[in-house]
Amino acid sequence: MKFFIDTANIDQIKEAESLGILDGVTTNPSLMAKEGITGADNILQHYVDICNIVDGDVSAEVIATDFEGMVREGTALAALHPQIVVKLPMIADGIKACKYFADKGIKTNVTLVFSAGQALLAAKAGATYVSPFLGRLDDVSTDGLNLIAEIRQIYDNYDFETQILAASVRHTMHVIDCAKLGSDVMTGPLSSIKGLLNHPLTDIGLAKFLADYEKGNA
Ligand code: G3P
Repeated sequence: MKFFIDTANIDQIKEAESLGILDGVTTNPSLMAKEGITGADNILQHYVDICNIVDGDVSAEVIATDFEGMVREGTALAALHPQIVVKLPMIADGIKACKYFADKGIKTNVTLVFSAGQALLAAKAGATYVSPFLGRLDDVSTDGLNLIAEIRQIYDNYDFETQILAASVRHTMHVIDCAKLGSDVMTGPLSSIKGLLNHPLTDIGLAKFLADYEKGNA
């Protein structure tokens, strides 16, 4: 399973990259705003900065909600850097734009996916990635992981090449469950990645190894 980090924070992207396990980055307008990145030029430059840190796909989201606007914005985003993936909302014009970019060989990520039917449409339109938001489903008492399982089954039934990018991952158990279900990618905060490192028995075991070494070499 590929690990993407879901942030526009440069320090966190660098920290995840330094671990050597980062496969890409996802962003969205909310994450850009959280970092105080505003204005078209600054936003575009920020995407380029991110591409220069990570060796992998970087999702950059369009703001337009009409087909022509999405094509215009997505074309400009894709021209920024070969690692850019055009992120499109799961609406009718987003699906049309997804097909348009797929036909041109431009990578896409269909976002704000909350049902298996939406994921099926994204795959039919040739999306590179589909982003089911599992945490936001959990927030409304609906099993987000079940959606990942449903999409996995549907995509496997027909050998769709669209990769399942489990999004709105909130914590380490989401990461592990996504891996068990065969999600192709997960994107989450740095804490959901670094949290995987932790186990008290590792810390206790390491402390004992070091203490025993010290005793033996005193
Ligand atoms: O990748 C989608 C993500 O940014 C949404 O996450 O935690 O705001 O639901 P969250």
